[in-house]
Amino acid sequence: MKILWKDPNSCSAMIKKKNFFLTESNDKYEIKNKIPRFVDKKNYTDAFGMQWNYFRKTQLDSYSKFPLSEQRLKRCLGDNLFSTLKGKLVLEAGCGAGRFTEILLDNGANVTSIDMSDAVEANQKNFPQDENHIIAQADICKLPFMKEQFDIVICLGVIQHTQYPEQTLKALCNQVKPGGWIIVDHYVFSWSYSTQIAKILSRFVLKRIRPEKAFLITGYLVKVFLPLHRIGRRSKIWQALMRRVTPVVSYYNDFPELSDELQKEWALLDTHDNLTDCYKHLTTKKKFKQSIHNLGLQGVKCWSAGIGVEGRGMKPIDISNIINV
Ligand SMILES: C[S@@+](CC[C@H](N)C(=O)[O-])C[C@H]1O[C@@H](n2cnc3c(N)ncnc32)[C@H](O)[C@@H]1O
Repeated sequence: MKILWKDPNSCSAMIKKKNFFLTESNDKYEIKNKIPRFVDKKNYTDAFGMQWNYFRKTQLDSYSKFPLSEQRLKRCLGDNLFSTLKGKLVLEAGCGAGRFTEILLDNGANVTSIDMSDAVEANQKNFPQDENHIIAQADICKLPFMKEQFDIVICLGVIQHTQYPEQTLKALCNQVKPGGWIIVDHYVFSWSYSTQIAKILSRFVLKRIRPEKAFLITGYLVKVFLPLHRIGRRSKIWQALMRRVTPVVSYYNDFPELSDELQKEWALLDTHDNLTDCYKHLTTKKKFKQSIHNLGLQGVKCWSAGIGVEGRGMKPIDISNIINV
């Protein structure tokens, strides 16, 4: 797979050497452990990096043995696009440990996975780079790629965690070829979320402390509170109550098929995810649809599902010069 790289800062061309990328102004970007690095060593995604390296297999379908990631990706892409993934150039932005990388590669796509955090290490351990898979550590809003190279840009579970979601959407759209597709989702505001006081208060504290410490504390919270969630695992009312009075995220309601062991792993992972993210933007379905429309896309569809709202749209041939970030 051939990708055209560019200096994410000056936007001029870059040449790949053995251990670094060299820019026209002789600046260097290190390639460490085979992964090119275009971000500061410490950044706002550090807690995510730790989380994905610790739980690098937890949400992979091949590990859980349930097609949860596949079903979500299929729904987001739509049946037509999903069935034609083979040979497509796909950018997966905010790849994490690779729950969607796995499905994309299994279906024959040529995948470029980027993440701002050390999650790229987990992704590489799970799905080593080869002629069909490239990995880079980069910020979506400062990508090291020439624009309009990808047939499909996928960004799931990510936009709400970036500093400026609208800017993120534009940067993603810049990477799509005319005639290509962008697939995205976003958290939505809900009254239920605003009543989850234990989570809101815990996050207020945890996102301000060192990732290592926050990781230990979320583990402790799960140990204490998950057994309470488990008592009424089949009762929707009990689960709704637990969501409000404990800071723990559990999946007894949404994915009852998961074993006790997996319930615990998913709770540890997503409680940490939920309580330590630096940015958590909320939107509405109407606003999100408008944001996708504002990119000048065609065939825009938006629906409520997954983490809140999901949507996709196609970049028409003639707007390639309109979007400028
Ligand atoms: C909740 S995780 C989702 C990971 C993966 N998409 C999944 O669903 O398993 C959000 C990911 O977005 C990444 N992220 C946040 N801001 C980013 C940015 N500006 N550029 C690239 N990645 C970013 C985080 O490092 C993290 O791995």
